[in-house]
Amino acid sequence: MARICVIGSFNIDIMAACQRFPNVGETIVMNRFDLQVGGGKGANQAVALGRLGADVMMVGKLGDQFYGPEYLAVLKRNGVSCEAVEVVPNAFPGAAFVAVDGNRDNVLYIYPGTNALVDPAWVDRNWDAIGACGVFLMQLEIPMETNLHLLARLDGHKRTLILDPAPARPLPPALLTGADYLTPNEVELGMLAGMSVESEEDFRTACGILLSQGARAIIAKAGKRGAFIATPDSFELVPGFRVDAVDPTAAGDTFNAGFALALSEGKSVFESVRFANAAAALSTTAFGAQGAMPDRPRVEALLRG
Ligand code: RIB
Repeated sequence: MARICVIGSFNIDIMAACQRFPNVGETIVMNRFDLQVGGGKGANQAVALGRLGADVMMVGKLGDQFYGPEYLAVLKRNGVSCEAVEVVPNAFPGAAFVAVDGNRDNVLYIYPGTNALVDPAWVDRNWDAIGACGVFLMQLEIPMETNLHLLARLDGHKRTLILDPAPARPLPPALLTGADYLTPNEVELGMLAGMSVESEEDFRTACGILLSQGARAIIAKAGKRGAFIATPDSFELVPGFRVDAVDPTAAGDTFNAGFALALSEGKSVFESVRFANAAAALSTTAFGAQGAMPDRPRVEALLRG
């Protein structure tokens, strides 16, 4: 099993549940509130991988204020190697405000904090450990130039690179074409393809647009429906699993983790997406990003049905 490297963000998540989202200028009462030392798409993916039993290292930066050092302990407790995680003195880590409404939809605001300091030099400084990994996971909550730098340094390496283009923002062509797998949800896919994505036909069309621009393969997350695998030769749905969902926050991160782990074990793309769907479904069964991220036996049990 190849070692998996996650490069990306940490956030301290301030979570709120409300019946509906407020209108502009309106104040509403939340029915649930929590401050969670666990969040940020990068660290969520690393923690999900650790829970699933992967050999995983995290590359990123935390501030020493507002629960940053506590977050380092969370990573270690979940089996994530932290030799490439710096705790920056006198600095705030990234933070996110996450609101979940009665339909189990969410909206997020993020503050970059020390995620903005994850620069190309940090990749170079940790290259010995990073370059020894076989599977890489990236998202878009650290500077784009750092992801581009890692991509350039991986040139010529035998590796698998998964890029979760989240949060939605324009993607430099080198990243669009350089990743082995792009794993957008419908919002990110729609933004990248320049159209709105709802129906299966929309997914097919939007994936086709990205493939025509040079994307190699797209694993488009479609929420409860599951995920679509789109390549230049095929387009198919891998159905999702039914669970009692409480909160979708970090379901996408758990999906990426499950997909990366299964691929690293040599499973087919279809089987890897099925494994990812099961892990992601289970992660929605508690409030917050990391609360319900499953261990491997729970995923295997859901897969067995
Ligand atoms: O994907 C979910 C994550 O997005 C949250 O944990 C929040 O911190 C934002 O990064």
